[in-house]
Amino acid sequence: MRKKIVAGNWKMNLDFQQGISLFSEIVNMAKDEVVGQQQVVVCSPFIHLHGIAQLAKGTSRVAIGAQNIYFEEKGAYTGEISATQVKSAGAEYVILGHSERRAYFNESDELLSKKVDAALSHGLIPIFCIGETQEEREAGRYFDVIRGQLEKGVFHLPSEVFNKVVLAYEPVWAIGTGLTATPEQAQEVHAFIRQQVAGQYNQSVADQLTILYGGSCNPKNAPELFAQADIDGGLIGGASLKSRDFIDIVKVFN
Ligand code: G3H
Repeated sequence: MRKKIVAGNWKMNLDFQQGISLFSEIVNMAKDEVVGQQQVVVCSPFIHLHGIAQLAKGTSRVAIGAQNIYFEEKGAYTGEISATQVKSAGAEYVILGHSERRAYFNESDELLSKKVDAALSHGLIPIFCIGETQEEREAGRYFDVIRGQLEKGVFHLPSEVFNKVVLAYEPVWAIGTGLTATPEQAQEVHAFIRQQVAGQYNQSVADQLTILYGGSCNPKNAPELFAQADIDGGLIGGASLKSRDFIDIVKVFN
């Protein structure tokens, strides 16, 4: 059985105290009966990592993730943060390739593949994001775009390393817009991704790969999305900032 994951992405929200409060609520609500076999992950801004990791101690139910790293080990890279640093603060996961970083910070496929390598070589699990823009969807180019992002971002990995990666399909037009991909649209792309992975590696690697959906996912639409054969959970933005909504999404798998 594939691992199911519900990951929150707080993006650039919450001051330190607000983040600690929200995380405390999440941990208190994430009891065994709420969190079944699925893994809950909270990807916070860097400032919260250490504090929330302390609150998560003693529970394997909520793991911590960062939202970015730089690929170099250490050195004169003012303002950047390394895989080792986020790991030492308690992160087990890291979001890479988010469309906001690709668009606003010009992160190229080449840079992202180096970040993926850095994360994996330090034992961080990358949640690698891929997805097309509205224009690319309307032009019917979305399969090509996604194939290209996979080839340049993660398909250089040998299969025994690739199988540590989590993918997230996030159609850019659905992020923070309230426009969700229909379950059929999302399933179509998830099945395509799995097929590409089977072609690149083999069917067993594809069958074990966790592929999350992201883009205006909420407690109302999550049940139908997560019921699709190739959707293994969600990468949740806005709804992860409200503990009740986030936990209600976690509960969809129960
Ligand atoms: O990383 C999360 C995604 O960008 C989705 O964000 O749920 O606010 O649309 P959203």
